Amino acid sequence: MKVSIAVLPGDGIGPEVINESIKVLEAIGNRFNHDFGIESGRVGGNAIDDCGTPLPQETIDTCKDADAILFGAVGGPKWDDPNADVRPEDGILAIRKSLGLFANLRPVKVYPALINASPLKPEVLKGVDMMVLRELTGGLYFGKPKKRWSTSRGRRGVDTLKYTESEIVRILKVGFELAMERRKKLTSVDKQNVLESSRLWREIAVEVGKEYPEVELDHVLVDNAAMQLIRNPADFDVIVSENTFGDILTDEASVLSGSMGMLPSASLSTLPGKSGSRSKKVSLYEPIHGSAPDIAGKGIANPIGCILSTAMMLRLSFGMNDEADAIEKSVDVALAEGYRTTDIAGDSGSAVNTTTMGDVIAGSL
Ligand code: IPM
Ligand code: MG
Repeated sequence: MKVSIAVLPGDGIGPEVINESIKVLEAIGNRFNHDFGIESGRVGGNAIDDCGTPLPQETIDTCKDADAILFGAVGGPKWDDPNADVRPEDGILAIRKSLGLFANLRPVKVYPALINASPLKPEVLKGVDMMVLRELTGGLYFGKPKKRWSTSRGRRGVDTLKYTESEIVRILKVGFELAMERRKKLTSVDKQNVLESSRLWREIAVEVGKEYPEVELDHVLVDNAAMQLIRNPADFDVIVSENTFGDILTDEASVLSGSMGMLPSASLSTLPGKSGSRSKKVSLYEPIHGSAPDIAGKGIANPIGCILSTAMMLRLSFGMNDEADAIEKSVDVALAEGYRTTDIAGDSGSAVNTTTMGDVIAGSL
């Protein structure tokens, strides 16, 4: 199969983890006889430096022409001035919005080999296997008004948490569909005791739920969800939430896996698994971690989240199930054999660098 992939490394550790993912793609291409055409594009802080914008038109065109997008990470202290006109993060937000990537799938699982990398007790981690579905193109991230201004009584700032019925319906449908393919349990996270948008969200969740009588639907307030996530994480199957709640809960959930560096994600504009519609749309795949400026350039970043995002891309965008399985198995093997980057090394003390981890994973393919 011949496919084209837009690769946007971004800033900080983005390029470092992307390099290892490309290594893995090459190994898959050789073993399964695929031609992965790779087109690189600039995004984030380095694009601001070179082109004055975090998402140059050239990159948008590259993304639109590609069959899928593989994204690293953006941001860094150099571009963190709160008064700057443009920010690196605007780059990824604009891609998500312009491609309509409203459904962000963030699978969270515990690797037996990494049980001790998590600060949580092993008995709490047993059986953890969940999918967090984060709404990605609405809510506080995009709602208008969104601004800062000065008044005679001091400065003000506003962000707007707004959702339309159709935005809520479509994300909940994805949630129910995912639950149908898994353990048929959907936890809808909201803050309906305080927020109007959450009261609408919950009302619609109940309505959409009538179309999926086999799925057990729970509603959990986000503060309680944050607690349950580390108290009884194995109870969750699919969690669906609005944009900001999902952002926060998935950083928390990554602790179950041992590190932020472990979690992959897929951002889609259609229901996954619905054949026909899938291949025509461009989806984006990225690790959930950021650009990690504190360790950038040291060659010690964990490339697994990005490599697993690559596996998700092969499965969801190209239907390459065996290829995706092979990558995931390779990651399992590397971990089982004791290979660790610093973030998951725990007390063992011995860690390999980013390139070695990539070599080991690509090597067993
Ligand atoms: C994520 C990141 C992004 C987000 C940032 C980089 C804009 O935290 O993908 O979780 O908030 O969505
Ligand atoms: Mg985040």
